[in-house]
Amino acid sequence: MAFSLKPETLTRIDEVITHYPVKRSAALPLLHLVQEEQGYISRDAIEWIAAKLELQPINVYELVTFYPMFRQEPIGRRHIKVCRTLSCALNGGYKVCESLEKEFCTHRGEVSPDGEVTIEFVECLASCGSGPVVMVDDELHERVDAAKVSQIAEQIRREAAARPKA
Ligand code: FES
Repeated sequence: MAFSLKPETLTRIDEVITHYPVKRSAALPLLHLVQEEQGYISRDAIEWIAAKLELQPINVYELVTFYPMFRQEPIGRRHIKVCRTLSCALNGGYKVCESLEKEFCTHRGEVSPDGEVTIEFVECLASCGSGPVVMVDDELHERVDAAKVSQIAEQIRREAAARPKA
């Protein structure tokens, strides 16, 4: 299937490019926008961004491989981020991550068998006093314990069941 983006993403991309004196400087923001929509940066996305900014694909590929925040594989429909930085780690962040993995029968960095979630460790989510902290997409969950893990998993399953079938 040919690479395509939503019209609103395309509008944001065209707008972002105007913020830079030379097009190529917009490579990082474009990668963020594409990942925000598609969840990862595919080879087609690399080629599309390169063409858009009049770069060689290798120039964009180098950025994707250099910066750890860019993913090269698809993720689940929901993205679960577990903070592993000191304060959260000391308060049980690793255990929380294990419990979430069990809830969804998956391992960190993989897509769960039902395609619903990808769980990843991330660095500080700027809520260190209320760890362990978990983000589900853009929603922050604080002081996550075993009961909250179950609640989060239940909520994700409920929302998945309510989603119209494609
Ligand atoms: S250490 Fe987890 S939010 Fe800062």
